[in-house]
Amino acid sequence: MKLSDLKVVVEIEKSSFPRPWSLNAFITQLTHDSSICLIAEADGRTVGYIIATQYVDVWHLLDLAIHQDYRRQYIATDLLETLFEICGRQPHRGYTLEVRKSNRGAIKMYESFGFICTGIRKGYYRDNGEDALIMWRDSEDMLA
Ligand SMILES: CC(C)(COP(=O)(O)OP(=O)(O)OC[C@H]1O[C@@H](n2cnc3c(N)ncnc32)[C@H](O)[C@@H]1OP(=O)(O)O)[C@@H](O)C(=O)NCCC(=O)NCCS
Repeated sequence: MKLSDLKVVVEIEKSSFPRPWSLNAFITQLTHDSSICLIAEADGRTVGYIIATQYVDVWHLLDLAIHQDYRRQYIATDLLETLFEICGRQPHRGYTLEVRKSNRGAIKMYESFGFICTGIRKGYYRDNGEDALIMWRDSEDMLA
C-alpha cells in the first residue's frame, strides 16, 4: 500500500464498516515500521487491503476489507495468505484480531485459517454496543 492508494482504500473502508478508519489512521499505519499494509488489485484497480501490526511477538490484524463488487472471489484469502507468508519469515508467537460477533462470514474465513475464538470483549463496538470475538492463530512454526 502506498499513499497514492489511500483515496480508494478510504472509499472501500467507508462502504465496509459502520465506524470506518480515518485517512489519518491509514497514514499512521503506512508510516509505522512494524506494520504491514497490503493492497489487492483486480481489473487494474485497488479492490481490497489488509493491515497488520506487530506488538512484541504477536501480529495484530487491524483491518481487512474487500470492495463489495469483488467479494467471494478469494481476494481476502489471497491477502491473508500473503500476510502469513511475510510474517512467517521472522519468529513470532502468532496472530490475533477482533471481529464483530455477528460477522459470520469473516469468522468462518478466519476459522478456515486456523483462528480460534479465545475470548469476548463485551460491548466493544461503540456504534451498537456489539461484542467482539477475540481470535487467535498460532504462528506457522507452532502449526507445523
Ligand atoms: C470479510 C471479507 C473481508 C471477506 O472477503 P472475501 O474476499 O469476500 O473473502 P473470500 O472470498 O476470500 O472468502 C473465503 C471464505 O470465507 C468465507 N466467507 C467469506 N465471506 C463470507 C460471507 N459473506 N458469508 C459466508 N462465508 C464467507 C467462505 O467460507 C469463503 O469461501 P467460499 O466462498 O468458498 O464459501 C469481506 O466480506 C469484507 O470486506 N467484509 C466487510 C469488512 C469486514 O467485515 N472485514 C473483516 C473485519 S474483521
